[in-house]
Amino acid sequence: MARYLVTGGAGYVGSHVVLALRERGDDVVVVDDLRQGHRQAVSPGAELVVADISDRRRLDEVFASWKFDGVLHFAALSLVGESMREPLRYIAENVSNTLWLAEAAVRAGCGRFLMSSTAALFGLPESVPIDEGARLQPLSAYGDSKLMAEKGLDWAERAHGLRTASLRYFNAAGADPQGRLGEDHDPETHLIPLAINAALGLGPALTIFGSDYNTPDGTCIRDYVHVTDLADAHLRVLDRLNAEGGLRYNVGNGQGYSVREVLASIKAVSGREVPCALGARRQGDPAVLVASSAKLQRETGWAPRYDSLDEIVRTAWSWRAAYPQGYRNFSPTVASV
Ligand SMILES: NC(=O)c1ccc[n+]([C@@H]2O[C@H](COP(=O)([O-])OP(=O)(O)OC[C@H]3O[C@@H](n4cnc5c(N)ncnc54)[C@H](O)[C@@H]3O)[C@@H](O)[C@H]2O)c1
Repeated sequence: MARYLVTGGAGYVGSHVVLALRERGDDVVVVDDLRQGHRQAVSPGAELVVADISDRRRLDEVFASWKFDGVLHFAALSLVGESMREPLRYIAENVSNTLWLAEAAVRAGCGRFLMSSTAALFGLPESVPIDEGARLQPLSAYGDSKLMAEKGLDWAERAHGLRTASLRYFNAAGADPQGRLGEDHDPETHLIPLAINAALGLGPALTIFGSDYNTPDGTCIRDYVHVTDLADAHLRVLDRLNAEGGLRYNVGNGQGYSVREVLASIKAVSGREVPCALGARRQGDPAVLVASSAKLQRETGWAPRYDSLDEIVRTAWSWRAAYPQGYRNFSPTVASV
């Protein structure tokens, strides 16, 4: 049994990883200031410290109170559009929070550090599927902040021997298949929950940003990786960090689905039409973004289990249909492990 510090563990991806760690018997301390996260999303048995990770004194107290076998770092600003309006805040906060956290981990003698990174590192890719050798050329301040944070971790590794990993997620999607956790952001910016909310009458009609791309149906194609598969990838990479560091992996399910295919899947799964309207393209949106996770699969044995779009959509639909107000009407006992 090991003990992990999880920043942002009350958020969407982090809470699913905390659940997976608890299920395999690990101890978890979550640090989250709940600006986006939810107290009810933290699995019972995990400690929750409500704090901003930029508060270095609180962070030192946390490292003094527990001895950790590793840090998993999810807490970050992560809205691409907002990052273009406030680039300095994004870069300052995402980079410095990551590096001070790494520094605190080094001081505490904690040898493993895994951070959430993003497909936004690759900007407009030259080819798909995108593997780890693709050129790193972020188009947003958000993407650049994650790239700078990764570079800082390279230095923590070289100078201090901290073994680091970075998982570059494509689009995390779906919900715990047993209905114990789901996705609940405010504002919501991800396609699947926005479309489900529209179909349930919980949100406005969906805007499709561009229908004249060079794709079979004219809409953008993205790679949706189930959040439970993503959680499994974290556990495997964490184990690999026991032996070696400098791990950088792309994580996706390797298949691309267009916006229209997502809407058709929601119709197939729920019987409901998604009200939608056609809008203009968004600047900087590539036509196709699909990951190659071959390196992750080869080196850790990971493979997506929920790789069909209908399965992904079904879990997301079930959670939102059961909890239309998200965690506001969520029964905490449901999250028990
Ligand atoms: N969801 C995706 O599809 C996706 C894709 C690529 C990368 N990522 C990255 O994965 C990570 C998790 O994403 P998510 O979708 O779960 O986001 P999320 O907003 O649901 O979770 C982030 C959590 O961190 C907390 N947090 C943020 N700043 C904090 C701070 N300074 N101190 C303490 N807590 C803080 C929030 O309250 C929230 O609970 C982020 O770093 C994001 O950039 C997510």
